[in-house]
Amino acid sequence: MSFNIISVIGLGYIGLPTAAMFASREKKVVGVDVNEGVVDTINQGEIHIVEPELDRVVHAAVTKGFLRATLKPVAADAFLVAVPTPFKKNDSTVPEPDLSFVRAAAKAIAPVLKKGDLVVLESTSPVGATEQMAEWLAEARGDLSFPQQVGAESDIRVAHCPERVLPGQVVRELVENDRVIGGMTTLCS
Ligand SMILES: NC(=O)c1ccc[n+]([C@@H]2O[C@H](COP(=O)([O-])OP(=O)(O)OC[C@H]3O[C@@H](n4cnc5c(N)ncnc54)[C@H](O)[C@@H]3O)[C@@H](O)[C@H]2O)c1
Repeated sequence: MSFNIISVIGLGYIGLPTAAMFASREKKVVGVDVNEGVVDTINQGEIHIVEPELDRVVHAAVTKGFLRATLKPVAADAFLVAVPTPFKKNDSTVPEPDLSFVRAAAKAIAPVLKKGDLVVLESTSPVGATEQMAEWLAEARGDLSFPQQVGAESDIRVAHCPERVLPGQVVRELVENDRVIGGMTTLCS
């Protein structure tokens, strides 16, 4: 299995460093963000967030042609979803996570999915969010099979790999930190 093109959905504090680190290893990376200012800034080889060393890595990756940003998803082999998952603003005593950004990201990437693709939820998410994302993808693509339908034989692989980096240390920690990976099947992992 090889991932020639990696797409990162959401180019904020987590998504942009993730995209830039893969691109710095000479992987073709397409970053996607709904914010036009973010997309334009990155395509100029600049950054819109504060994170040590990231400006250098992004500038080199864009200049060498390994990283570009777009407003709409394009075909890729792996999609890493790093969109916000804030708490809902309501009066509930138990904080309720807002998965609407994950849902919007799933709806946006569904049309460009093809057999063999991997979709990884990297956002901090409640139990069941990965399966929910897989369900949203399946609703949009009845022509493809998903792990919740057929298990290991699925056309699309789905996993959760929560980000654990410390702001200010992201460029180093993305490389050095161990990661927890939860695939919906062993093949997905
Ligand atoms: N920032 C951290 O230190 C940190 C650490 C660990 C985990 N996380 C988690 O990582 C996730 C992302 O957090 P962040 O800090 O990078 O957020 P962020 O707000 O910095 O960036 C999110 C980006 O996603 C974009 N976006 C929103 N909806 C989109 C969509 N449908 N399609 C494409 N782009 C979209 C936004 O425009 C924004 O640029 C969250 O779940 C957060 O809890 C963050």
